[in-house]
Amino acid sequence: MVPSINITSQEQELEHLVTVVSKLSRLPAGIFSPAEKKYLKEQVEIHKKELITFNRLDYLVFVCFVRDEKDRSKRLEACRKAGDKIATALAERKAVRVALFDAEGLCDEVVAVAEGISLGSYRFLKYKQDKESDSRLEEIQLYSKALEEREPAGGEIRGNSPGSRRASQSYSVGNINIILDAVARCRDLVNEPSSHLTATGFSDEVEQMAREAGAVVEVLDKQKIEALRMGGLLGVNRGSTEPPTFTVMEWKPAGAKNMKPVVFVGKGVVYDTGGMNLKPGDSMLNMKCDMAGAAAVAAAVYAIAKAKLPVHVVGLMPATDNRPGMEALVSGDIIRMHNGMTVEVLNTDAEGRLILADALSYAKKFDPALVIDLATLTGAAVRAIGKYGSVAMQSKAAGDIELLRASGFEVYERLVEFPMWEEYGELVKSDLADLKNLGPAEAGMITAGKFLEKFAEYPYIHLDIAGPAFLDKRDSYRGQGGTGYGVRLLFDFIFRHFAI
Ligand code: BES
Ligand code: ZN
Ligand code: ZN
Repeated sequence: MVPSINITSQEQELEHLVTVVSKLSRLPAGIFSPAEKKYLKEQVEIHKKELITFNRLDYLVFVCFVRDEKDRSKRLEACRKAGDKIATALAERKAVRVALFDAEGLCDEVVAVAEGISLGSYRFLKYKQDKESDSRLEEIQLYSKALEEREPAGGEIRGNSPGSRRASQSYSVGNINIILDAVARCRDLVNEPSSHLTATGFSDEVEQMAREAGAVVEVLDKQKIEALRMGGLLGVNRGSTEPPTFTVMEWKPAGAKNMKPVVFVGKGVVYDTGGMNLKPGDSMLNMKCDMAGAAAVAAAVYAIAKAKLPVHVVGLMPATDNRPGMEALVSGDIIRMHNGMTVEVLNTDAEGRLILADALSYAKKFDPALVIDLATLTGAAVRAIGKYGSVAMQSKAAGDIELLRASGFEVYERLVEFPMWEEYGELVKSDLADLKNLGPAEAGMITAGKFLEKFAEYPYIHLDIAGPAFLDKRDSYRGQGGTGYGVRLLFDFIFRHFAI
């Protein structure tokens, strides 16, 4: 459960309070003593603090100081990070409620603080006997005239009525709650170990989410996958005792603003041992995260459907584990893919591109305007840019990737474009088959992208999220474990560029 964010104007009894200001002269009256004001001034002006905490014995008062940063992206991110610190302090106090006070009409900043509190409160405690979770933050109350005025009458969720142009390009509070819930759902899926989340378990969860959101869902079972001749997905699955699944989730509202759908494809390897090319040493740790792309796609379509955005979107999620076994693929095997192409499998640990390739050629049947895939695809992507963004590539989608990049800065799920030069494509051609699944040691994230591009006959964006999808140690509101990377990014992209 994530805390719900509610707009309110009724004063309640004293409780934990956050005030968000950009000028100390705008602090609400009657809260701070002269000595406290002096202390605040010092902290802000001399020590450049952005969050100051006052311990009031039975409640905490936080002052979140928004610096006049020119860069909106950095300003909002500082607010989210302050929100995370507030979440940590509130968790220590076992607080269930916090009030956020907006004295200046800093709507987007206040919402970003709330976002940081909510995302920073997330914990995966399902398997803990000692339920620290019993006393968790339940509600974030927003006292904001400006937000109240911005909110559509009756609290109805924006995007409900196709055709109506919105005055503001910001989310309604209803939509923010939907997004934060979706991120938590995504994180839950990623954090769930493969002992409890098989491919079938994953598709069951997605079915449930689709039902809750009013989206249409179909799970293709092994028989159907065989009938579709998805040799990539079936090949990777050969070492497993669990059958693969292929989940199709669709949100097609009446009056959608796009003629052709936007299709999301997510890598759903519920556990990646590497297969017969078994991962050595510690490199197998945390490979339950190898379905983070599929989880982000499921959660993004869930949020878009729940928010009733007037946009036709489809999510495709091939899922299996990748294990050694008596029947498992071995190096040198040649498989035939869904689109008829043949692939020489030189390394069974490069399995993601095999299951994604089938999904990408399957996507063609939707006649998509754009396909975006999300995949924890290569260690090379992590080595190139680390954990702070995804490696992106594009073909025939130069305009779209710019918009996606802008959404990346807005929600701070950033991406950086790498080239799709044709020379890299030469590196995945095989002597024996049409393609091979392994390139040379250099530029592994690009040869992987080039491999996928061969199956994508439409405007296409590839996001290698191996870095940002999962964190070994906590990093502010992104938390530890699954971060939910991609959910807020895809929602923002669809909201901003297709729904308006
Ligand atoms: N799932 C891994 C990539 C990965 C690495 C995800 C680190 C998250 C964190 C992928 O299937 C893989 O094993 N890729 C290989 C490809 C290689 C064999 C061409 C890699 O990157 O080493
Ligand atoms: Zn692998
Ligand atoms: Zn993998």
